[in-house]
Amino acid sequence: MRNRILPVLAALICIIFYSSCQSNHSQERVSKSFFGIMPNGDTVFRYTLTNAHGEQIKVLNYGGIIQSWLVPDKNGKRGDVVLGFDSLDQYIKQSPYFGALIGRFANRIAHGTFTLNDSTYHLYLNDGPNSLHGGAVGFDKKIWTVIPFTTDSTEGLKLHYVSKNGEEGYPGDLDVHVTYTLNNENAFRIDYEATTDKPTILNLTNHSYFNLNDGKGTILNEKLMLNADTFLPVDSTSIPTGEIRSVAGTPMDFRTPTEVGAHIDDNYRQLQLVHGGYDHNWILNTKGNLSEVAASVYDPDNGRFLQIYTTQPGIQFYSGNFLDSTLHGKDGNVYPKHSTIVLETQHYPDSPNEPSFPSVVLNPGDTFHSSTIYKFSVK
Ligand code: BGC
Repeated sequence: MRNRILPVLAALICIIFYSSCQSNHSQERVSKSFFGIMPNGDTVFRYTLTNAHGEQIKVLNYGGIIQSWLVPDKNGKRGDVVLGFDSLDQYIKQSPYFGALIGRFANRIAHGTFTLNDSTYHLYLNDGPNSLHGGAVGFDKKIWTVIPFTTDSTEGLKLHYVSKNGEEGYPGDLDVHVTYTLNNENAFRIDYEATTDKPTILNLTNHSYFNLNDGKGTILNEKLMLNADTFLPVDSTSIPTGEIRSVAGTPMDFRTPTEVGAHIDDNYRQLQLVHGGYDHNWILNTKGNLSEVAASVYDPDNGRFLQIYTTQPGIQFYSGNFLDSTLHGKDGNVYPKHSTIVLETQHYPDSPNEPSFPSVVLNPGDTFHSSTIYKFSVK
């Protein structure tokens, strides 16, 4: 009897071992490590994507946060180009959305109120009189399911989250898939996909705080290009007034690469209204064309050059006006005012209350798709 059981057991072990090797085979280049424990006991992991040219991106299943983004400079020296923290505790208690996925509605909704098909919805007011970045507990604070994948020339993560009907006041069960893909041309691509079972609104983005100088100091000497002829002026609570204004002749004109600091202190009301600096949505000339560059950032000291492509109609450029050197970030860095260029590809703020803005409504039976590519090189 024993003689017969042993070979069967051995075969079983082999099969289990082999199939586990197989299932890990496609994931072996994406490493996964422990990052922390949530107050409710959930484990937070950090996944590392690395490409053939030394670009390396670390992502948490908490908020889909891009926690670290290493990119070579013109001398081949790698440095971290995004602001962030070393500990989960800091992300939970202090983070101004560092690197996170934002939803259901990125940016502001005036008075946290919108009407859809004759029903009026009320959202949590977490930004003065308005609702910002999804409310009290947005997608940036959720644990996402993460599945690593690899192909011959890419590695990536498939993230998934289901936002239930009524969560944060929004209607409909919303099923959200986000795919992060890093390729060997130093392009990192984010694809967003969502479906709903009731009419709802959504605006999804990633909130990475770029600083191409290894996260150190201000970005006032970094050169920004925004492929946009117009922007959306805001009121004193950062809600668009409805006006679409030409950038020509204003400090908002980044159509040719311009140092962020060149006009940031100009006597221009729109800069003063948002705590001194830039915090506005530009209307992209690219009109959803993913092969035309929407924005770029260049650090003249180390040569790092970032180009952004997107299918989204707008881009929010925020210059870290509310940072004030109180946060203790990675690598011993503190983050002063104007230490970042946040470029959030998205629909326009407060779109649900501005019928003339492109629609942010998602209906059952339709699938929302958007894509953004962040391509690094050196000049
Ligand atoms: C907003 C800023 C805000 C920041 C952090 C940005 O997307 O435009 O006003 O301070 O996020 O919350």
